Amino acid sequence: MTKGLRSQVVLAVVVLLGSAVSFADSGEAIYKANCQSCHGATGTPNAGIAKMMNVKPAAEYKTTEKEQIESVKNGKGKMKPFTGKLSDAQIKDVVTYFRTLK
Ligand code: HEC
Repeated sequence: MTKGLRSQVVLAVVVLLGSAVSFADSGEAIYKANCQSCHGATGTPNAGIAKMMNVKPAAEYKTTEKEQIESVKNGKGKMKPFTGKLSDAQIKDVVTYFRTLK
C-alpha cells in the first residue's frame, strides 16, 4: 500500500465511524429508541395508545422547549422520567427533534 492510499483508507474509516456515532446520538435515533413506542414514529401516537396513555400528537403540545425538557427529565403523567437513562445533552437533542414533528 502506498502512503497516500493508506491515509485515504484511514480517513474513510474515521469518517464512517464518525457518522455512526453521530447517528446513534442524534435526536432522531434517541427518539426512535426511547420515545416512539408511546409517541409514534412520526410524533402522532396510534389511537389506542393515545387514549390509554393520554398522549397527544407532538405538534399539539404548546409548552416551551424548556418546559418539555423538564417534562422528559422528570416525567409527566404516564411518561416516566428519563433522567439517568439519557444524558442532559441527549434529552435536549431529542426534545429538539420532537419539536420538529408534526
Ligand atoms: C411510556 C410512554 C411514553 C414514552 C416512552 C415517552 N413519552 Fe412523552 N409523553 C407521554 C405522555 C403520556 C405524555 C402526556 C403527559 C401529560 O400531559 O399528562 C407525554 C408528553 C410528552 C411531552 C410534552 C410535555 C409537556 O410538558 O408539554 C414531550 C415533549 C414528550 N412527551 C417527549 C418525549 C420524549 C422526547 C420521549 C423520549 C425520550 C418521550 N416523550 C417518551 C408518554 C411517553
